[in-house]
Amino acid sequence: MNSPIITTRGLTKTYGTHTVVNNLALEIPQGAVHGLLGPNGSGKSTTMKMLLGLVTPTAGEITVLGQPMTRATRDEVLSSIGSLIESPAAYPHLTGAENMQIVTRLFRADPANAQRAVRLVHLEKHMDKQVKHYSLGMKQRLGIAFALVRDPQLLILDEPTNGLDPAGIEEIRELIISLARDEGRTVLVSSHLLSEVEKMATSFSIINQGNLVFQGSQQQLFDAHLPDVYVQTPAATVAAEVLHDMRPRIVSGGVEVSGLSDDAVAAACAQLVHRGVPIHQVLRKRRSLEEIFIGMTGRKGLSA
Ligand SMILES: Nc1ncnc2c1ncn2[C@@H]1O[C@H](COP(=O)(O)OP(=O)(O)OP(=O)(O)O)[C@@H](O)[C@H]1O
Ligand SMILES: [Mg+2]
Repeated sequence: MNSPIITTRGLTKTYGTHTVVNNLALEIPQGAVHGLLGPNGSGKSTTMKMLLGLVTPTAGEITVLGQPMTRATRDEVLSSIGSLIESPAAYPHLTGAENMQIVTRLFRADPANAQRAVRLVHLEKHMDKQVKHYSLGMKQRLGIAFALVRDPQLLILDEPTNGLDPAGIEEIRELIISLARDEGRTVLVSSHLLSEVEKMATSFSIINQGNLVFQGSQQQLFDAHLPDVYVQTPAATVAAEVLHDMRPRIVSGGVEVSGLSDDAVAAACAQLVHRGVPIHQVLRKRRSLEEIFIGMTGRKGLSA
């Protein structure tokens, strides 16, 4: 596996006595979409701003593309990152093309890259329009074109779908997926809405009150939260005795056990059959990703 594109160690930000990002150890894999997920105020924007050198960490280290971020390397490191933090800063009375020219000059970027970026975000037909006449989704896409102007390997996008209607969300989602899949870029995208990140990200970091509570793939998230197993049986008391070591709970019509691997389920069934317990049904009570997130962050704010 490739080495991670971003690694942080002990990344911390404290404002006064309030620690808003606490000892984060992030590892963002290369060439895919990674979701930074957490409820409002959990520290997503602060983390991204630290990665972009916009906020100075109170403590910790950041490595991007194998290079430690220091005062000396900062400019070089940042030249390989494109970003969209909060709303894109376009001049509303200027056209898309004029705004793009300003950004291209500011970054001393190749105008051919700028044209390519405009095509990638599907704005080529709207470049002569003033930005004040753009929809919110078009403004976000222009912001992503700005982020692409230096042809960066890594894009950091803070809540790029915030406030968009379902069609706008879908457009941005498709765009982000294709930037990773077709262009091999890494996209770090934050959201407080699980439903918006779930369909584009292959891996996630979940933060809650500044702490990293999970990092890995969707599958790893499911594996880390094995669903409860329900065994329907008229002999619940005997079943509970047989499965005593697995700490079963007697529930209506049977017993329920938490945290069993597939092998452990097979072993439990074998023990029950061996002891003559009649089994009418065995069910895995699969939890949705959403339920797992709410369980981890204690916040319904993660759901749409
Ligand atoms: N400059 C600052 N001074 C003091 N506190 C700050 C500052 N910036 C952020 N905070 C606090 O840090 C915490 C995390 O804020 P942050 O903006 O990083 O969260 P977030 O996860 O991006 O939230 P949201 O989903 O609302 O965008 C919040 O409690 C916020 O009030
Ligand atoms: Mg934020």
